Amino acid sequence: MFRYYESKSITEKYRKYRPSYPPELAKKALRNFTEKKLEFLLDVGCGGGQAVNIFAPFFNKVVAIDPSENQLKEARNQNKFAHVEYKQGVAKNLPCEDDSVDAVTVASALHWFDRPKFYQEVERVLKPGGILIVFSYWSPKLIPICKNDDIENLTRIGSQIVHDAFSFGIRGISALEQIYSHGENKYKQIFSEIPLIKKRRYDIASKSHTWSLDDVKGFVQSIDGYETYMKNKASELSRLSEEERDAKLSELDYSEQVVHRLKETWGCVEMKSSDVKMKAIFNFFVIVGEKSE
Ligand SMILES: C[S@@+](CC[C@H](N)C(=O)[O-])C[C@H]1O[C@@H](n2cnc3c(N)ncnc32)[C@H](O)[C@@H]1O
Repeated sequence: MFRYYESKSITEKYRKYRPSYPPELAKKALRNFTEKKLEFLLDVGCGGGQAVNIFAPFFNKVVAIDPSENQLKEARNQNKFAHVEYKQGVAKNLPCEDDSVDAVTVASALHWFDRPKFYQEVERVLKPGGILIVFSYWSPKLIPICKNDDIENLTRIGSQIVHDAFSFGIRGISALEQIYSHGENKYKQIFSEIPLIKKRRYDIASKSHTWSLDDVKGFVQSIDGYETYMKNKASELSRLSEEERDAKLSELDYSEQVVHRLKETWGCVEMKSSDVKMKAIFNFFVIVGEKSE
């Protein structure tokens, strides 16, 4: 199993810089199921509780699992629901009885799982007619608000810069390239392989968040590939003195390069990063499927 999103530094950045999900995403996914309060939700790969926060109000009982203790700490610290339990667990071995779960949710995590084993487990734990809801997002659209002209073009180039940075750190690591490609392709292959009935797939846009370049930098640093890359570079440079190594690592730090390239593209080189503002919009792609009755 891949062990990513484990360290304290990345889980803190994850909580601070990743988008929350819009409540409409939960309402729409549960549209055909909300006449009565649903009993039991299982959220898998729960991270800091981002998906639980929008789905928990519809259920009487929620169990949310993740292998990362640091993610679970973040989740428990922000939890506002008495009926939600966060605990350690993995997708290939769900901690539930057969035919006991009304809905399984997976947010921005399915591409990390051993998917054939997870699908078997979903089939086992869902009640007949129960649903699997899977969703994720990739890099945001960035619309500069420091400029008045040529906005479309500046948005296109700026969004491409952060899109390229999303997977920069894992380039050449083929197992990770494959995992990341699912997100980049909006789960096209994952949709076709999910062994459930009445499957549907659609997109929902986030509301626009006002970001500065500090938020863009934090977002890039919250991607596991960034941490993997910087750690690998630090160990390749371990023979250098601490001072030389730090200088070299700061040259290689591509979150800084993203900030610099955005400033150049948007003509804001003289401005402080915190003053360069933009609207950030995320597109969430959602898949819903049911277990047969
Ligand atoms: C990108 S984060 C998504 C977190 C959160 N669900 C969200 O929507 O922001 C992916 C999460 O999947 C978890 N994960 C990775 N492999 C897993 C596995 N085999 N079983 C369960 N969770 C896993 C990671 O620890 C991490 O917290």
